[in-house]
Amino acid sequence: MKLMLPYLSFSNPSVVKLLKDNTNKNINYSYKEVSAETLFNIKTKLKVPVFEEKNDYVPEIDKDYIFDKDTTLSIIAGFKYNRRVMIQGYHGTGKSTHVEQVAARLNWKCVRINLDSHISRIDLIGKEAIVLENDKQITKFKEGIIPWALENGTALVFDEYDAGRPDVMFVIQRILEVEGKLTLLEQNRVIKPHPSFRLFCTTNTIGLGDTSGLYHGTQQINQGQMDRWNIVSTLNYLPVEQEVQIIKSKCKEFISVFDKKYISLMVELANLTRSGFKNGDISTVMSPRTIITWAENAVIFNSVDYAFKVTFLNKCDEAERNIIVEYYQRCMGNDLPKSWSNIIEKDNDTNG
Ligand SMILES: Nc1ncnc2c1ncn2[C@@H]1O[C@H](COP(=O)(O)OP(=O)(O)OP(=O)(O)O)[C@@H](O)[C@H]1O
Ligand SMILES: [Mg+2]
Repeated sequence: MKLMLPYLSFSNPSVVKLLKDNTNKNINYSYKEVSAETLFNIKTKLKVPVFEEKNDYVPEIDKDYIFDKDTTLSIIAGFKYNRRVMIQGYHGTGKSTHVEQVAARLNWKCVRINLDSHISRIDLIGKEAIVLENDKQITKFKEGIIPWALENGTALVFDEYDAGRPDVMFVIQRILEVEGKLTLLEQNRVIKPHPSFRLFCTTNTIGLGDTSGLYHGTQQINQGQMDRWNIVSTLNYLPVEQEVQIIKSKCKEFISVFDKKYISLMVELANLTRSGFKNGDISTVMSPRTIITWAENAVIFNSVDYAFKVTFLNKCDEAERNIIVEYYQRCMGNDLPKSWSNIIEKDNDTNG
């Protein structure tokens, strides 16, 4: 089946021309157009620009990475047509790494910033700092990450965008517009974005606050800001086969030690926790990241059961552990020791 992005038709020549005029015109270093199908293994006729030179800011390629078609097309639109792209979804579904891995294959400089509540305006913009020059202490303006990225043509990814402080969000608001120039009041300087500057963000909520109870510490996003993100893409849990494929590609060591049939059972268990969460039975969900960590821990402890205990079970509400243990029994076929779900009983079980 041919899938098209509902919000942007790449095959419409006028859209392509409009966006091209707006973006790629001044890129002063060379790039070649490469088929996105070969680069990302997704079905598409699109071509993407790949810079010929790589530098230290280009992320490392994870050759086992599996690209989700819709998310990848949105990110490609962001890089190729200078669209501001927000990727939203549950934790551990591959939002941040998708942007990073697309950038890695385009040889595009890309820096991730965790926009937690400690990041301040000064960190992003810059500040006067005392530096040593010719053995003398002088004050000099040390620019923050935003002016640096704007001038160097680097893609910025703001992770946990919905956890950012309001003062920080307003700094970002200005550069969300494609032609958005940044005024550095401290320096009487206006910075015009480099043609290859790009902006992405990842969030767990959709900007309306946390409605699920999973994402404590996030806040509502100002609608003026939401309005400036050109593309909002959602990456939640993928179909079972795709998730199994991802886990298999990431956990080669696990497969060499344990039977590979475990992987589909682990994904099945994760899906049970997700539907249990939806139905209000439990309040913790297993993400693809949890499954990967579970498999890695199983190799470390040489036990799938014990690894499950330390990776997921111990993170769950005590009142809900019985339900989780039941899910485990249903999927994996064996009973976990009673003491693991009942903390009143003495824990005599040791890792075998
Ligand atoms: N499609 C995929 N192919 C290979 N590995 C993946 C894929 N998706 C996720 N992973 C792996 O799962 C882990 C979690 O991914 P990532 O950090 O990108 O999630 P996230 O959605 O940004 O999570 P959070 O919301 O918590 O920030 C990483 O180790 C990543 O390599
Ligand atoms: Mg992330």
